[in-house]
Amino acid sequence: MIQENVSLKAHNTFGLDVKAKRFATFNSINELKSLLSENQSSELFILGGGSNVLLTQDVSALVLKNELRGIEITSDSDDVTLVKAMAGEVWHDFVMFAVEQGLGGIENLSLIPGSVGAAPMQNIGAYGTEIKDVFHSLEALKISTGEIEVFNADQCNFGYRESVFKRAMKGEYVIVSMTLRLSRNSKINTSYGAIEARLSEMNVTAPTIKDVSDAVIHIRQTKLPDPKEIGNSGSFFKNPVISKKQFEELKSKFPDVANYPVDEDHIKIAAGWLIDQAGWKGKTLGTYGVHKNQALVLVNYGGSQGKDIYQLSEDIMANVKEIYGIELEREVNVI
Ligand code: EPU
Repeated sequence: MIQENVSLKAHNTFGLDVKAKRFATFNSINELKSLLSENQSSELFILGGGSNVLLTQDVSALVLKNELRGIEITSDSDDVTLVKAMAGEVWHDFVMFAVEQGLGGIENLSLIPGSVGAAPMQNIGAYGTEIKDVFHSLEALKISTGEIEVFNADQCNFGYRESVFKRAMKGEYVIVSMTLRLSRNSKINTSYGAIEARLSEMNVTAPTIKDVSDAVIHIRQTKLPDPKEIGNSGSFFKNPVISKKQFEELKSKFPDVANYPVDEDHIKIAAGWLIDQAGWKGKTLGTYGVHKNQALVLVNYGGSQGKDIYQLSEDIMANVKEIYGIELEREVNVI
C-alpha cells in the first residue's frame, strides 16, 4: 500500500526529517513486482537501511523500502559454507548469525550500519576485509523486465566502496539477496593494528571469530558515533588515492601524513588525517558538525537540514584542496 507524505527521519541514519511524497514497503518479491508493475511511469528510490544517503530535500520519487527478510545456509562443507541473506536484513544481524554459527569471513565487518542489500552496492569494508573477499553471488530484480538475475563477483565489478550498481547500472536493479562464501576453517585477519591492540587488551592469544568480532565492536563503539544516538552515515568521504609522485610532494610538506600503499604507483591517504590536521575535527555549527573522534564522519546532533551538512562537506572539500591540493570525494549518495 502506498502512503503519502511520509517522514523519512526513521529511515535514514543521519536522522534527517525530509518527506517522501509516496512511500511503500515490500516484504516479498511478489509484492515488489506488483508495486513496480503498478507504478511503471514513476521515478523510483529504493531504500535499504538508509545508512549511506544524505537527504537534502523532500523526495518526489516513489520510495520503496526493502523489508525482505531471511537468512539461511544453502550449502555446507568443511571448507566452504554458503549463506544467503535477503537484502532487507540488518547487516549486523547477518554478521551475528555467522559468528554464532562459527562461520568466519565477515567478523571484521561487525557493527557496520545498514542493510544486507547495501553491502554489495558499495562493497563495504573495514579493518582489512571487504565484501568482495567473501562474495559468492547476488540476486537482483531488473526493474524494466521484472526478472531476477544472478550476478557473480566479476559482474558486480567491485572497487573501493564501488560496484556496478552504484555506477553503470545505477537505478536499474533492486538487489533482493546476497550469498556469501563463509567457512568454519577460515583464517582470522587481525592485520589491522587496532584489532591486535584490542585483542591483547582482552588478553586473547588465540583469537576466535567471536573474539575478533568483539574487538571490532569495541573499536567501532569507541571511535565512531552510534547512529541511534547521533545521526551520521559513517565515513562521509572516501580515502583518496594519489600517485606516488604527488605523494612524495605531499610528504615533503606533511611528513606525518597517514597513508597506505595501494600498488607500485599509488598511495591511499587517510582523509580523516587531512581533515583533522586542517582543524575541522570536533567543529560544531549549531546542530551539526564534524565528529570529535573521527574527522571523516559528519554528524547531525538533531534537527539539522541535509543541505547544511552538504554545505559543510563543500567547505571541508574546498579547504582540503587549498591546503593539500587533494580533491576529496563523497562516499555517501547525495539526494
Ligand atoms: N586519523 C586522524 N584523525 C581522524 C581520523 C583518522 O588522524 O580524525 C588517522 C588515524 O590516526 C589513522 C588514519 O587516519 O592513522 C586512518 O584512520 P582509521 O583507522 O580510523 O580509518 P579511516 O581510514 O579513517 C577507514 C574506512 C572506515 C573503516 C576504517 C577501518 C573509508 C572511507 N573509511 O576509515 O569505514 O571503518 O577504515 O577499516 O575507507 C565507512 O566506510 O563508513 C567506514 C567507517
